[in-house]
This record gives sequence, C-alpha cells and structure tokens, in this order.
Amino acid sequence: MKLLDSNVGFRIAAAAVLLLSTVTYAAEKDSSSTDPCAAIAGKTTASFKEAKACLDHFPFNKDFADQTIDTVRKVTNHLYVFNEIAASPPNVEGLEVVPVNISYGLDIIKNQKWKSDREFQDAVALLLDKVQDAHLVYSPFCYRQFIFWQPIQLNSLIRNQRTVVNVAYIKDDIWPDAKKSWVGCEVTHIDDREALDMIVDYAVNNNGESKDVNTCFNNIVNTKSYFHGWDDGADDLGYHRFLPAQEVHSYTMRCPKKGTEPKDEDYDESFTVKVPWIAEVPRGFSDASSYWDNYCQSAYSTSSLARRNAAWTTEITDELKRMHEGQAFDLSPNNNAVGGSDGRYVEFIELDHNVGVIDIQSFSIASQDRDAFVKNFTEGLEEFEKKGVEKIILDLSQNGGGDACAGEFIINSFFESTPDYLSDVKYSSFLERVISKAYSQQATKWYDYRAEGYPAGSDQWYKDTVTYKRGKEQVKFSKPITLSCDSWNAGVKPYKNSKWKASDIMILSDGRCGSTCAIVASRLHLSHKVPAMGFGGIRGNSMQFASFPGGESERLSGFLMDLQSLGLQDDPDAPEPFPERADMGWTFREVYRPMEKKDIGNEEYLLEYSVNNADCRMYFNDENADNVKELWRQAAQLMLNDECPLQE
Ligand SMILES: *[C@@H]1O[C@H](CO)[C@@H](O)[C@H](O)[C@H]1NC(C)=O
Ligand SMILES: *[C@@H]1O[C@H](CO)[C@@H](O)[C@H](O)[C@H]1NC(C)=O
Repeated sequence: MKLLDSNVGFRIAAAAVLLLSTVTYAAEKDSSSTDPCAAIAGKTTASFKEAKACLDHFPFNKDFADQTIDTVRKVTNHLYVFNEIAASPPNVEGLEVVPVNISYGLDIIKNQKWKSDREFQDAVALLLDKVQDAHLVYSPFCYRQFIFWQPIQLNSLIRNQRTVVNVAYIKDDIWPDAKKSWVGCEVTHIDDREALDMIVDYAVNNNGESKDVNTCFNNIVNTKSYFHGWDDGADDLGYHRFLPAQEVHSYTMRCPKKGTEPKDEDYDESFTVKVPWIAEVPRGFSDASSYWDNYCQSAYSTSSLARRNAAWTTEITDELKRMHEGQAFDLSPNNNAVGGSDGRYVEFIELDHNVGVIDIQSFSIASQDRDAFVKNFTEGLEEFEKKGVEKIILDLSQNGGGDACAGEFIINSFFESTPDYLSDVKYSSFLERVISKAYSQQATKWYDYRAEGYPAGSDQWYKDTVTYKRGKEQVKFSKPITLSCDSWNAGVKPYKNSKWKASDIMILSDGRCGSTCAIVASRLHLSHKVPAMGFGGIRGNSMQFASFPGGESERLSGFLMDLQSLGLQDDPDAPEPFPERADMGWTFREVYRPMEKKDIGNEEYLLEYSVNNADCRMYFNDENADNVKELWRQAAQLMLNDECPLQE
C-alpha cells in the first residue's frame, strides 16, 4: 500500500509526536497484561503477533467508518479525475489495469463486518491501491507507525544470462538469526513457489505504484542500493508500514561454495529458512490509550463528535498542516543499510569519456530552496559545458515528482520552451463553488490556472464544461487549461543550452519516475526526442520509463485548508476531515499527450492511460546492483556505443 507522494515526511518525520488531543480512547487502561500495546511499549522491536495484537486492539467503530467512507466517496466522486475511467479502463497493451468501481467497492466495505478498526482502514487503503494510480491514496496514519521488516532483503539480477533472485543485504540488527553470509545467495523458492514467480505475482497483485508491472517489480525488490529516499509507503516485498499478510516467509537458498563468487554458480547444498516479519516499534506511546491519543485521535473528532458546523479550531488546522507537511510518522525508516537520502534535489557527477550524470532526486523544491535550486542547476550545466561534457545522462529513477514548475525549469534549461501539455479538471458543482471563490479572492492554488481564450482573472473556463466519454460514462470536464509558471523562478533565466542536442542526452529510469517526473520525462521524450533507457524490471517485458503521469494531485489535508481559507468548509458537498488521523491524495487534473486539437477529450490520449516505452534497456547485475556509479558507467557505455537511439 502506498503513502502519499511526498518525500517530505521522510526527511522530517520522527520529531512529530505531538500530544494535542484531549479525549482518551475508551480502551482498558489498567494492566499491561491485558493491554497488548503496553506489552511492547518501550521495546525497539516486536514480533508480528505482538504488533498485530496492538494494532488490532482498537475495535471497529461504525460511526468513524461511515464518516471515513463518506469523505472518500465525496472526493472520488466529485474530484478524482479518473473515477469513471477507472471503473472501465481501456485495454492498452503494456498496462496492467483491472477495473475498479470505487463507489461500489466502498459500498462493499461499508456493508462488511470488520473485526477491528485496522482491518477496515486497511481495506479502504487497499481499494484505492487497486486503481494503480500512485496519486490515489488513503493513508490511515494510526496504522502506519510501525515499520515491518523482513530481515532478508532481496533484489533481482541478471547473472550468467539468467534472472536470479538474490539476497541483497541482511538486517541482523533486528533478527539475530539472520546471517551476513547469506548475502549473494540465490533464493530459488519463496513459500514453496519459484521465487521469481512469487515476486512477479506480488508485483502484479499487491503493489499499487504503477500500471506498469516492471515499475512495480523494481519497487518491491530493486530499491536497495539505489535508494533516493522516496518512501513511497513501504510496500516492498520486505519492508512495510502496514501489517503484512502473513507472519513468516520461507526462503530456499543456495549459497556459493567458500572461495567462489555467485557467478561461478558452484553452490553448497540448498537449505530453507523461515524468516519472520519483525516490527520496529514506534516510541511515542506507553499503552493502548496513549497509542490512540498520539497516533490516531484526530483533533476534528475531538472537537466535533457533534459533526457538522462545529467551529474549526486552530487544533484542526494545525493537525492538517502537520499531516500535510508529512509529520505524521513516529519512525522514519532506518535505512543505514541502504544509504538514505542526503536531502538534496539534484547532483551533477562527471564520469570518464566526457559523460556527465545529472541525478535528479526530487522536484519537491521547498519554496525557501527555490533560488538555490535554480542557481545550482544552472551552475551545474555551466560547469559541465566548461569541462567539455559531451553526453548527459539524466537519472530520473526513484523520483516521486513534486513541483511542475521545477520540471518546466529543467526542460527549459535544455530546450527552447515547449508548450505545456493540455490538461483539464473534472467538473462538479462543488468544485465550481471552490474555483469561483478562489478567483474572486485571488487565493489558493485554484487560482493558478489559465485557459486559452479566457481572460486571466476569469473562472469561466471551469463553468463552460465539455462532456467526454470516460469508460462507460459521459463525464463533464472544464475547458483545457495550463498552469502558469511565470513567477516560479522569479524571472531568473534558465541556462541557455547551445551545446547538447537531444541525442546527446539520455533519460535513465527504473520506471519509478512518477507524477511531475513522469510528465517531464514524457515531454523530453515525446516533444524533444530525448531517448530513454529503462533499467531493471522483468526481462523480456517492454518497460516504460515513467509512471503515474496522470497530472496534478491534491491531498485532503491541503484541500481542507484551502476550503477553510475560502470559507467553504461547511459547503454541503465538502468532504469532512477524517475522524481518525488520516490523509488521502488524488489526481484532479488529467494531462494529455501531444495530439491534435480535435482529439482533446479522447481518453486514448490521456498520459495516465497510454504507454511510453523506453527505447532501450539495461538490467541489474552483480557489478552494478550495489554500486550506482558502476550502473552509470554501464549506461554511459551503452550511450557512447549508440545503443540507445530513439525508437520512432
Ligand atoms: C459503479 O457501480 C455502481 C453500482 O453498481 C453503478 O451505479 C455506477 O454507475 C458504477 N460507476 C461507474 C463509474 O461505472
Ligand atoms: C546547492 O549547492 C550547494 C553546494 O553543493 C549545496 O550545499 C546546497 O544544498 C544546494 N542547494 C540546493 C537547494 O540544491
């Protein structure tokens, strides 16, 4: 299951257990012998069973459930731009998409008897996951505070022309039975199935990051040495924030004989180990009641069990703000073993043979960093030019996106500006009231859009609706719009490139280039003819270089703050804040690939529902899987040999 596509949380986390709430959860407070949360409070790790007992301690609450479903339904019905197409998606070769009728799914969840609040909350998260649009997320923070690890972490490599599942590293700090010597052993079976089959199956069925199965595959196994710090929600094979489906996995391994290398394929006898999930225990609670208060209780339900029209308190706004800024987690993942993010947005690295790498890790440029980002990016390119760099690899792997205008700035640094791709917003009478108010007050993000043929201060582009067919439904949309980036870089001119042609640049991506990253990569590839190299994934499958390019996303926490600032929080169609601490995200603006004007509205041209394959492919192997510089060197070699030309 995904988290929200913000990597802010990854950087700030930990510090954020604030004790705001006043109402105590009505759980037994007395003895730790009957309180499963008290039983593990203060410990570093807990077993699967212990963690589950604590998480499942909080009973299903019908009122909370109904209120949660009501909010998710309002958002998906009125605001989620792919709501109708998701119910009957087009059949596109290369996309793994199953039809998901969200409203129907919510009905089923609503009518089911749930054994615990957690089961209910996870069911809602899973339903949205199935749409395989990483922008569409429900995140119940109450049940995302533990981090679950498999002490064996895997990757998938090509070794002697064969795809193998390999032990990438061992977390013996959480499970002493794990042996460091297992690193490099081949895992032949997991839970008595062929290891590769099991993993591909998991990628197809349990990972909601992308409609491209290669991307999901990379997400669940190949994120180890290549970890840029985009914590997309910990839905790896061996690293979760949600309760895993089973307590242990069995791994059958064969290890290289002493003194041999894995690629010699000379193995000792194989053996099977049962490996448990181990939970890292959050720090900020002492029993079930304080767990609830500190991670689950929302300021909204505290102040307004009376629901509607309860006055918004500063506590509610503060809490939304903290969630919005990603301060919702007690633990941030301990990624010492895999090299965490250094919090930078972009790095310029020179390789031999006049090849330079620009490693773009995030487009989520904090507003106070904008000037430095613009300056650094421009200086980086000037330095490359001065040093005689002839070829540039743009590494866009594991980039969860961010600010569309940062992407625009990067494109414009290489090429004369490209027109923004057309996009539109789903129409609802509720959002019409929001946009009207935003325009009349010239406030909030809803005021940032411009449409051809409409004066800048007019919201008429939203009211003049057009109807398009989506799935089996006729759906109303706004007129096409673009986002204005004029003020983003405060008039600073991007670097003016006269040195590198499109064929001197290459996109490198493990497919996990999402959202803004995906749109930037698509524009570079489709409009400017920059070739793209995919890496990893399932061998023999054609692979896309980007995922969830749907458009622009919003999060409930931010949306509610906007509603409040526009005075619309009590609109009858406004979603209510969640009764427990939780947030959701969705795509509200859909982007089209380049097309003729007459094709606007045709679902075939939606970036989210079309395929953009990489022009060439590279795989992980024993040399590059743990060594990103080596991976870049290998990619550079292919580029220098002209082995990645643009496929028209
Ligand atoms: C979802 O299912 C419901 C009930 O079966 C149906 O009324 C509705 O039209 C469906 N929605 C979409 C978007 O297909
Ligand atoms: C700009 O570059 C400097 C020097 O490398 C670095 O310390 C700083 O973090 C960078 N700032 C941004 C916003 O990328």
